[in-house]
Amino acid sequence: MDEKEGYDFFTIKEINEESLTVKNTLKEKSKVEKIVSNIGNIDRICFVACGTSYHASIVGKYLIEDLIAIPTEVLIASEFKHSAKTLTKNTLSIFLSQSGETADTLKALKIANRFSKTLSIVNVENSSLAREADYNINTSAGSEIGIAATKSYLSQLICIYLFVAYLTKDKNEKNGIKEFNRIMDSLDNLQEFIEGILPKEEEIKEIAKKYKNAQNFFFLGRGLSYPTAMEGSLKLKEISYIHAEAYAGGEFRHGPIALIEKGVPVVVVIPKDEDYEDSLSILKEVKSIGGDVIAIASCNDTAIKSESDEVICLNEKIDPIISPLTYVVPLQLLAFHICLTKGLDPDNPKNLTKCVAND
Ligand code: AGP
Repeated sequence: MDEKEGYDFFTIKEINEESLTVKNTLKEKSKVEKIVSNIGNIDRICFVACGTSYHASIVGKYLIEDLIAIPTEVLIASEFKHSAKTLTKNTLSIFLSQSGETADTLKALKIANRFSKTLSIVNVENSSLAREADYNINTSAGSEIGIAATKSYLSQLICIYLFVAYLTKDKNEKNGIKEFNRIMDSLDNLQEFIEGILPKEEEIKEIAKKYKNAQNFFFLGRGLSYPTAMEGSLKLKEISYIHAEAYAGGEFRHGPIALIEKGVPVVVVIPKDEDYEDSLSILKEVKSIGGDVIAIASCNDTAIKSESDEVICLNEKIDPIISPLTYVVPLQLLAFHICLTKGLDPDNPKNLTKCVAND
């Protein structure tokens, strides 16, 4: 039976279990390696998922296109049927799901099984999605009770990183081994990095108090940080009922920036990666028009402090390639604490169920 084990809510218990999740999910390494070596020729990858699983899939797209240059798209499961005619036997359709029973995703898998190779990445063992795909990886996050996905998101991402690492080693003739080692070394240090982020909870609690009455929140990120911004925004919406929107940093200037006025909180996910300067530019612009900037940044980023209202900083040793695995944790904690300060129940948000079993 699942117990709270001293925590007041499953959601915070599950966020705190993320360090253990890293250890458990990494045990899937050899299984992932085997699947990649059996998968054969693929010239296109198509991720299919909903909600949080959709956000994890976007991380997969950025990694695959950058490291292996296989054209990759990410489709919302409920819209998948409109693209089914483009699938071929050399397409790999990847289905991500915590529950393995989401009706839209399962329906899409049944279609994809007819036209393409299929792989499911699922947390619940022996679920429908696990059984019905050609290949399956278990994310091994353990049971997740909180409606808002937290540790299962991390475990999905780890599986994606493992998959991409082995695929890179196999298919990227020029830099495959180098990139494989870079990802694997980073994953070896991930548990320690997560353990360093969790104690920031007290600091995040103070930020939550400051912004609990906000009507609107924006989340910005570029490249690998864009899906992190999307996931941070979804977490806040789900459990605190604050209207939140996420944008790719560059896109924000094309309209939504009109909504910024004095005091509107804007979370900017800004690791020191190749997008850093561009992200800094939009961050400064938001600040100059009155927005309140909450930066999620590297601890060696001294410039960011004078440009932001709040900074949650993460270990500078985190290789930016694994920023999605780490920079999302403070966003989960922020959503959780805004929810608590508003007196809401994070485990059972209104109108939501753990698994959307109807389509
Ligand atoms: C996540 O916090 C949500 N509860 C929701 O978006 C969820 O990720 C989505 O319904 C997909 O569920 P699945 O991963 O079980 O398929």
